[in-house]
Amino acid sequence: MGDRPSLREQVVEEVEKVVEKVDEEVEDDEEVEEVVEVINFGAGPSKLPRPVLLQAQREMLDYQGLGISVMEMSHRSAEFSRIMKNTEGLIRDLLGVPSNYRVLFARGGGSGQFSAIPLNLLGRSGSAGGDFMVTGSWSFKAAQEARKYGAVRLAHEPLQEYTRVPLDVIVSEDASYLYYCSNETIHGVEFRQPPRHATDVPLVCDMSSNFLSRPVDVGQFGVIMAGAQKNVGCAGVTVVVARGDLLGHALGPCPVVMDYGTLAREGSLYNTPPCYSIYIMMLVLEWIRLNGGAEGMEAQNVAKAETVYSAIENSEGFYSCPVERDSRSRMNVPFRLPSESLERLFLEGAASLKFLGLKGHRSVGGVRASLYNAVSLSDAEKLAGYMEAFRLRHQDHC
Ligand SMILES: Cc1ncc(COP(=O)(O)O)c(C=O)c1O
Repeated sequence: MGDRPSLREQVVEEVEKVVEKVDEEVEDDEEVEEVVEVINFGAGPSKLPRPVLLQAQREMLDYQGLGISVMEMSHRSAEFSRIMKNTEGLIRDLLGVPSNYRVLFARGGGSGQFSAIPLNLLGRSGSAGGDFMVTGSWSFKAAQEARKYGAVRLAHEPLQEYTRVPLDVIVSEDASYLYYCSNETIHGVEFRQPPRHATDVPLVCDMSSNFLSRPVDVGQFGVIMAGAQKNVGCAGVTVVVARGDLLGHALGPCPVVMDYGTLAREGSLYNTPPCYSIYIMMLVLEWIRLNGGAEGMEAQNVAKAETVYSAIENSEGFYSCPVERDSRSRMNVPFRLPSESLERLFLEGAASLKFLGLKGHRSVGGVRASLYNAVSLSDAEKLAGYMEAFRLRHQDHC
C-alpha cells in the first residue's frame, strides 16, 4: 500500500509524459521547418509577410502590455482607436489620398461592394444606371449585381474572351459612374492605366487584387474599393476610398452598414468593425512602408512578374499565357501546358516542393501563379526554376 504512488504523483507523472511527447513533436516540427520552405502562390487569401505574422504572434496574448489580445478589446477603446487611426493614416500616406477623400473600413468583402456601389452612387445623379467595363469574372459579377438596382450599360465592344483590356471606352453622359476592375484575378488581365474618358462621370474601381501593388493617382477616382486578403492583410475588412461629394446619397433600401455616408460619419464604427483584420492590415501597411511604399512594391512586383513571364516566353511554346502582352497582370499569372495531364503532373511536382496554391481557378483550369506583395523575388525565381526544370524533362515527350 505504502509503495503505491499518490494521486498527485500519478498526475505529475502523466503530465511529464505529455510534456515529453509535445517536446518531441516540437523538435520534429523544427527539423521539418529547416528543410521544407513553403511558398504560397495562392490567389487569396494569400501569403502575408513573415515579420507581420511574427509580430501578431508576439502580440497575440498581450497587446502592448494590456494583458489582452486585439481580438478581445473594445472597438471603442483608446487602444483600438489608435489602431484605426494608424491604419487610416498609413493608407493615406502610402496612396497619397487627397484630403477631400474619406477612407472607410467596410465588411462584406469585394462582393459586398458590388451591391454597395450602385446603392450609394445611383441616387446622387438621378441617373438610372452605371456604365461597366467587363474584362473578367469579377467585373461581370459586379455588373450582374448592379443590375438589381438600376440599368447597366457596357462601356466598350463586348469581348469574346477575357484576354485583354478594351482600348475604346464610351461613357454615357448621364451615367452615375463608370465601373472597372483594375486586375481580374481569375483571368490575369490588368489595366496599366485607368480607362480614359472625357466626362465627369466618377470612376469606380475594384482594386481588390492589385491594391497597393503600385502607386495610383487617387484623385482620378470617385471610389476605390479593395478586399484586404490579397495585398494588404487578411479577409474580413474591405477598404473603401471615396470622394467626399459622393457620400450621403444612398438609396433608401441601402442597408445601413453599407451606407458610405453613415460609415464616414461614424468613423467606420457604426457597428463593430472587423477589429483583428484591421489590426493585421495596419501591420501589413507598416511593412509596406518599411519596404519602399507603393513604389517599392511596384519595383518588386515588376521584377517578379518579369521572372515568371520570361519563363513562359522562353519555353518555346511549352507554356502559354492566353492574355495579350499589354494586358498581362503582374499579380496573377495564368498559364497552360501542352495537355491537362501535364498540368496535373506540374501541379503534383509543385506540391511536393511545397509550392502552394498554383492551380488555376476552377472556372478556367490550367495554372495560376499569384505574386502579391508578400511573395518575394526569390519565391518567383524558385517557381521559374521549377518551370524550366519541368519543361526540360517533359518537352521532348509531347
Ligand atoms: C478582383 C476581385 N474582386 C472581388 C472579389 C470578391 O471578393 P470577396 O470574396 O471578398 O467578396 C475578388 C475575390 O477574389 C476579386 O479577386
